[in-house]
Amino acid sequence: MPRIIQFSDIHFGGENTAATEGALRFAETDRPDLILVTGDLTLNGLPREFKAAEAWLQRLPRPWLATPGNHDTPYWNLVLRALTPFARYGRWIGPAFGEHAAAEGLVARTVTTARGAQPRLDWSKGAINLAACHEAVQHFGAAPSDALRVVACHHPLIEATGVPVTGGVHRGEEAAAILAHGGVDAILTGHVHNPFAVPLACADGKTYAIGAGTLSLRLRGTPAGFNRLCTTPETLTVEAMGWTGSHFEPYRSWALPRRVRA
Ligand SMILES: [Fe+2]
Repeated sequence: MPRIIQFSDIHFGGENTAATEGALRFAETDRPDLILVTGDLTLNGLPREFKAAEAWLQRLPRPWLATPGNHDTPYWNLVLRALTPFARYGRWIGPAFGEHAAAEGLVARTVTTARGAQPRLDWSKGAINLAACHEAVQHFGAAPSDALRVVACHHPLIEATGVPVTGGVHRGEEAAAILAHGGVDAILTGHVHNPFAVPLACADGKTYAIGAGTLSLRLRGTPAGFNRLCTTPETLTVEAMGWTGSHFEPYRSWALPRRVRA
């Protein structure tokens, strides 16, 4: 049954070097069916940070899929950030919108929530295009009925309780409802630097919002880490892996009942 590793918020330029190297070793040994990187690969969207992110991604086992975070825009260059927010991301990482991948028992797609500018004071919060959510649902419609359907974004679409940062996603609740009613099993996000796994309170309650920790030095009360997802036909298990200083070990896990499709 498919296994996924979710890395997030590595923030090259402020990365935890030992943990990012440890994460590579873990992925090489674990050999998941897919690696998802849910944004904030860089700290300030600088070329040297993107080059470091690119070099790290090239060392990951394939396939992997990435989506940008708010820090992956030119953070301090207002003109570039407003006019070409994802030009650097596109040059060094890949397309910023609508990427997808499939493996045995699994289909995944990115939906971008990061923006370079917004008509509100805090441009770093998220916004989501509802048409992109409908496209994801349509895309998943062609997958086998028992395949795990996964969407990867940067900002949590709904506010998770007990985390120190909000996603503040424009249209986030509408997007979550579209994805849940469209049969998406898991919405993987980063941004808050703390892991969580909760069912969305809409549709049949079997669409899960899953957040990952960070591999950066910007810790917010939990160890540097990432998520490891394992599935059976009945259960989606999420393990939050934490860096001990020498290796990763699970420090929290969730067993989530999966949706049964006819
Ligand atoms: Fe972020």
